Amino acid sequence: MKHYAVFQMPEIIHYGRGAFQTIGKEASLRGRRALMISDPVMDKLGYVNEGRKYLTESNMESVVYSGVESEPTDVYVTEALELFRTKQCDVVISLGGGSCIDTAKAVAVLASNEGDIGDYRGGKKPVDVKPAPHLAVPTTAGTGSEATDVTVITNTTDDVKMMIKQPAFLPDVAIVDPALTLSSPKHVTAATGIDALSHAIEAYVSKKSHPMADSMALSAVNLIVQHLKTAYHDGDNIDAREAMSLAAMQAGIAFSNASVCLVHGMSRPIGALFHVPHGYSNAMLLPAVLEFSRNEGVDRLADIGRIFSSGGLSSNEQAADHAVSSVKELCRELHIPNLKEWGIDKQDFESVINKMSADAWDSGSPASNPRVPTLYEMEELYRICFDYDFSQLSPAGRNRG
Ligand SMILES: NC(=O)c1ccc[n+]([C@@H]2O[C@H](COP(=O)([O-])OP(=O)(O)OC[C@H]3O[C@@H](n4cnc5c(N)ncnc54)[C@H](O)[C@@H]3O)[C@@H](O)[C@H]2O)c1
Ligand SMILES: [Fe+2]
Repeated sequence: MKHYAVFQMPEIIHYGRGAFQTIGKEASLRGRRALMISDPVMDKLGYVNEGRKYLTESNMESVVYSGVESEPTDVYVTEALELFRTKQCDVVISLGGGSCIDTAKAVAVLASNEGDIGDYRGGKKPVDVKPAPHLAVPTTAGTGSEATDVTVITNTTDDVKMMIKQPAFLPDVAIVDPALTLSSPKHVTAATGIDALSHAIEAYVSKKSHPMADSMALSAVNLIVQHLKTAYHDGDNIDAREAMSLAAMQAGIAFSNASVCLVHGMSRPIGALFHVPHGYSNAMLLPAVLEFSRNEGVDRLADIGRIFSSGGLSSNEQAADHAVSSVKELCRELHIPNLKEWGIDKQDFESVINKMSADAWDSGSPASNPRVPTLYEMEELYRICFDYDFSQLSPAGRNRG
């Protein structure tokens, strides 16, 4: 066991039904004019107006940027930053899924620091000046971005989904109100739920795992195993939504303080090049990558397998296999497609496998995996995942590559 770790979370977390109402008070403690970064769906659902009402009640002015129409690019960051500056805002509020929160993280940092967002990648340029205060309000139960020091922004020049990690990207306040996730459609619930599961499993099996992050990761897996299927099949079930919001935040805290690994490393290039939503691209990779990592991560995977099981797993080998088969079974139940079923052309996919493997490696995440892959092994894994059969329950991919 490692005995030294630095552990970070937002300064303040409001969690629970009705937490959204605290946005006005928390914002007014930090500034007087907020830029709310959101998307057209949040606008249509009335969440943007509701948030602005709470702000007005606390004597806060507000300006809205609701242009985050897909997973975030440097273009959204530039547009929102421009609005922040011209309207002389002093607080950033994100309201939406991980896409809105990640855009806002970049805006908060660039509001007080020079350069483009890509300059901060890989710790090349440390953030020198304290960012503008950022209050994050998630409406999906998935990314945990409200509680992570990571932002993921696509560079539109070279189609790379940049994972940028520095403590300055951590929001000051997370306001996690599960009622906001009730409107999440089935496919978003499935994708974001598996994203949270991937965060928790990857944080726990990571070479950078440590006991503080472990407790968050295992709690998250437990909640997801108990509640994701219900949240998916019965979206109005507030108890299941509440458990998933908590799990997603805990899984975010876990991976932000440990790391993600090979699934996330390989998933970002699929998102950048084929525009597969992040949760789906993780889910398309998760079972095969767990099979690949199983022998090196057997003891940790066994702990995950035992959470999925109702008992009777005597050896760690059996329990680790149960983890893999249970994840596959969950993906099946949530109707996760493979890459081929998503509609990606095999030749198009093959033509970028080299780039995807190189970009995955450059992100740094694969190096934290229990089994560190070669570039060739990542290429093979992409091929295995292209037409992966989630109904095939034996751990066949384990020794491939
Ligand atoms: N920074 C981090 O720590 C971190 C971690 C994981 C993923 N990410 C990034 O987050 C992004 C994905 O975020 P996401 O999975 O939350 O999805 P998202 O923010 O892209 O939202 C997906 C869709 O769901 C809609 N939606 C969101 N909440 C809704 C609700 N309550 N009701 C109805 N519709 C709703 C959105 O409008 C959008 O159309 C990716 O870019 C991914 O790389 C970041
Ligand atoms: Fe993720």
